[in-house]
Amino acid sequence: MNSCSQGALADRVRLSFDYYLKTLEVNGSAWGDWAGHQEKVRNLLGQVFKVEPSEIAVTTSASAAVSSIASCFDYTQKRNKIVTTENEFPTIGQIWHAQERRGARVLHVPSKPDLTVDVAALIDAIDDETLIVSVTQVCFRNGTLTELEPIIEAAHKKGALVLVDAYQGVGAVPIDLSSLKTDFLVGGVLKYMLGAPGVGFLFARHSTTQNLIPVNTGWFAARDIFAMDIHGYDPAKEARRFESGTPAIPSLYPAAAGLELLLEIGVENIYEYVSPLHDQLREGIEAMGGRVVTPAKKSNHGAMIAVASNNENAHVSALEGEKVITSCRDGNVRISPHFYNNYEDVERVLASLAKHRTFLSK
Ligand SMILES: Cc1ncc(COP(=O)(O)O)c(C=O)c1O
Repeated sequence: MNSCSQGALADRVRLSFDYYLKTLEVNGSAWGDWAGHQEKVRNLLGQVFKVEPSEIAVTTSASAAVSSIASCFDYTQKRNKIVTTENEFPTIGQIWHAQERRGARVLHVPSKPDLTVDVAALIDAIDDETLIVSVTQVCFRNGTLTELEPIIEAAHKKGALVLVDAYQGVGAVPIDLSSLKTDFLVGGVLKYMLGAPGVGFLFARHSTTQNLIPVNTGWFAARDIFAMDIHGYDPAKEARRFESGTPAIPSLYPAAAGLELLLEIGVENIYEYVSPLHDQLREGIEAMGGRVVTPAKKSNHGAMIAVASNNENAHVSALEGEKVITSCRDGNVRISPHFYNNYEDVERVLASLAKHRTFLSK
């Protein structure tokens, strides 16, 4: 029940680690197979998001992807304002504030008291000096989901770019980038995408970002990786220009295996399947006097249900003692079912929560 942090280990993902080790054992090094896996992951991500693989960069984390984006801009220009929210994962806030050293201005638009993004206020904050609007799709603290379309439309009207951090949504909430017109989207494969740490990714829409050239770079971002040129910088035309050095090869194998499984099952099916489990969780928690801090409407939350706790770490440990694996952030216990959970699992979570109800905060 902790897919918002690390997805459960699928058999084929486990086998893929073994397969990687075999490439070392049997072949010594298997460069073709290794590089092939980078391209396989790129292609699979293209399928997940319904875009060309050439618009996908496979990075080593979401942070690496955002840093690479941030390195593209000249913040000494008038258009140097970054409009963001209070719901961002720390890495997003930190990377944008790091650009203040280069002249950027960062504006956080306050969220509503229930931690939903104030979309009207966010849109109001976007002006002719806004360079990029950086917004998280599903908040890591309580699972609140932000409607992205009006934000993207407003940003584009003012000539600003949009970056969506979709890490808490990818693999759990369907995202179709052929219709959702964000310029950038970042995420990683560790959580609902069933992979391992070491693989993040970046979607960069070719039509709106092709002229952005990162200063954060490395030889795997070069147009011709094997040109081995030390006298110039000739980045790839594709989104691959946002990559850096040697990929996290061991992590590409589980990433590919997880993404294949995800595509077989289908994110739309997962989204529909998990929804009644959320309702079951919410009803059970409220019935025992707990307070769910995740918005109730299906379209307003991701795959996580967060429960207010008076001692979040002890609460998670108590549940772990019952072999119920969850995680916590910001005073909440996060329960995040996926397609491998069922009605009985939820009953078990509820029984454990009831047993340790003294941790529930009113
Ligand atoms: C919403 C969100 N964004 C970004 C990150 C950080 O990703 P990475 O460690 O790959 O940079 C996380 C990780 O938990 C996250 O939940």
